[in-house]
Formats: sequence, C-alpha cells, structure tokens
Amino acid sequence: MTLTKILTRWYSEHKREMPWRTTKNPYYIWLSEIILQQTQIKQGLPYYQVFVKTFPTVFDLANASEESVLKLWQGLGYYSRARNLHVASKYIVDELDGVFPATYGGLLKLKGVGDYTASAIGSICFGLPTAVVDGNVYRVLARYYGIYIPINSTQGIKEFKVIAQKLIDTRNPGDYNQAIMEFGALQCKPSSPNCSVCPLSINCKAFKNNAIDQLPVKLKKTIVKKKYFNYIVVMTVDNSIIIEQRTGKGIWQNLYQFPLIESTKSLSLNLLKRNEIFKEWYGNDVTNISLFNKEDIVHKLSHQHLYTKFWIVEIKNTNNHTVSISDIRKYPVPILIGNFIEAFFDTTATIE
Ligand code: ADE
Repeated sequence: MTLTKILTRWYSEHKREMPWRTTKNPYYIWLSEIILQQTQIKQGLPYYQVFVKTFPTVFDLANASEESVLKLWQGLGYYSRARNLHVASKYIVDELDGVFPATYGGLLKLKGVGDYTASAIGSICFGLPTAVVDGNVYRVLARYYGIYIPINSTQGIKEFKVIAQKLIDTRNPGDYNQAIMEFGALQCKPSSPNCSVCPLSINCKAFKNNAIDQLPVKLKKTIVKKKYFNYIVVMTVDNSIIIEQRTGKGIWQNLYQFPLIESTKSLSLNLLKRNEIFKEWYGNDVTNISLFNKEDIVHKLSHQHLYTKFWIVEIKNTNNHTVSISDIRKYPVPILIGNFIEAFFDTTATIE
C-alpha cells in the first residue's frame, strides 16, 4: 500500500471528531485553520466554538469591532492573526460580496493567509490538490524518508513542499492533508512516539536507523532577549484603575495594559521609587506601594522573555484615564495581564 493510502486509511479510523470536520464551509475552515496555527487542537477547540457562536457568518465578523475580536482571541497569542482575520472578513464582505475565494490565488489575497492556509482551505473546501506542510507534516516526512535537511532552511522548505505535493491524493486532497497532520499529532509525535503500533514503521527510515529522536532537523536561529517589565497597577481611593491602550506596531498592538515601565534590570522597591519615569508619573501622589509577585513572572515569546513585576500603587488622585475595577475584564489584554487580573481582582482588591 502507498504512503498516501496508509495515511488516509489510518485517518478514517483514528481521526478526532471535530466540528470543522463536518463542514466544507470555507468561513469555518478558515477560522479553524487560523486558530490551529497557534495551538493544538484540544486547546483551540473552545476558541473555535466561541468564535463560531459569536460570529456565525463572515458578515458578523466583518461588522464586529476589532476590540471584540481581540477579546475572544485573548490567550491564543499572536494577536496580529486576529487582526488579520478581521481585516480579511471586511475585504470578503466589501469587495467579494461575502463570497469566499475558491482558488489558491484568490485565497492568498486574504490578509494573513499564506501558502499553508490557502492550501488547507483550498483542499478541504474546494478539492484543490494543494499540499499543506506544517510542523506535523515536516516530522512525518523527515522521519519516513530519513531527510536531514533542516526544515526551516530555504532548501528544506522547498524540498518538503515538493514531496508533500507528490503524495497528495488528488481525488480527496482535503482528507489527505488532514490525515498527515493528524497522523503527526497523534501517532508520529515529537517525542517518544509508539512506533510499535505505527502502520508506517516497516518502511520508515528513521525507525529502521534508530533515528526517530534526531528527526526532523531544525536550525536554531533566534537569539532570545531578556526584558524587564514593571506594570504599575495604579489604584485610586474610589477603586478605579489606570489602563491604557497600546499603540504602535507590535504583537500586542491595540490591546490594553497597565502603565508600563521597562527597566534594564530587575527593580527593587527602592529602585522603582527612584526611577525617573515613575517619579514623573506618580511623584507626590503615591500613598502606598507593594509588589504583587515576589518572583518575576517570566512570559516567553518567540524572541524575548519578559521578566515581569506587577506593582500595586495606591494614589490619592489621577488625571489619567481610569476604569472601575468591576469593568476591567471587559478590555482585551495580553494573557500575561489577563492572568494577573484573575489572580489579583478575584481576591477583593479594594482600598479600604
Ligand atoms: N492542524 C491544523 N489544521 C489541522 C487539520 N485540519 N487537521 C489536523 N491537524 C491540523
């Protein structure tokens, strides 16, 4: 039996039942594929369900505010993907009368849709023979064929795409694409896969050569930068709190946050009090300062690790924009701040 045949047969027996697997509606498939790019199926499912319920059609998404879209996305990370979804939905409604493009080229025109997503939507919804290559596909192919070319090198990206394209089942490309991804997620797992029950093990080069844990090969490229974040959680006597919207480009663009002071090293209470920005912002108004987290909370992003402190600063009054504590959960915030809000405002954090 061919590799393609084994994978599609395996898929029909082992696939997880998912709501997006019972539809070919491109709007739903698009949502699911964008969500699944940053999370595993189990963690992505509740986000998908909430999105579909809140925005059942592309018109609903297009008519929503960016803020409400970001709020539903909260916790998934890579917020530019949510912003792109929203921009693309407006394009589909305004320019295409709400009709999803049905060609690979047309799909690529949607903001945030690259080769992977266009191939996935094209194959699943429109039967286009366009192969997907995601992390799961790289792993299955690198191991099965014993390929040591780094998967994130220019040559690797090209060669793996060619192999995937040759394997595609042209009669049912959507199932084939999902089969190889699902196989990577459930059977050919990154570490300690159970090769004794694998239907591909007889011809798998990595299994034969005892090289499962060496493949796929990935070049280490990123240098991770350390940053020190001091969020100033300013509470006034009437229990309101200062929040501001992030502006400028960046992953957290348009999300809300507490005033932020970035420092070159971890700050003590004394250092914070002497910090020029802190003095300028709050100077004489401060009545009390305490540190919420004794240990820095380390938030890991792909290129930087954020060593974070939340300082609770009580002040007499402020001219800044404040919101009442009871409204704080309505604002879309980075998960780093969302977790703090859950931990801090769950306990009755009001000034007596
Ligand atoms: N990962 C991302 N999209 C997927 C899909 N449609 N099936 C299996 N795994 C996936």
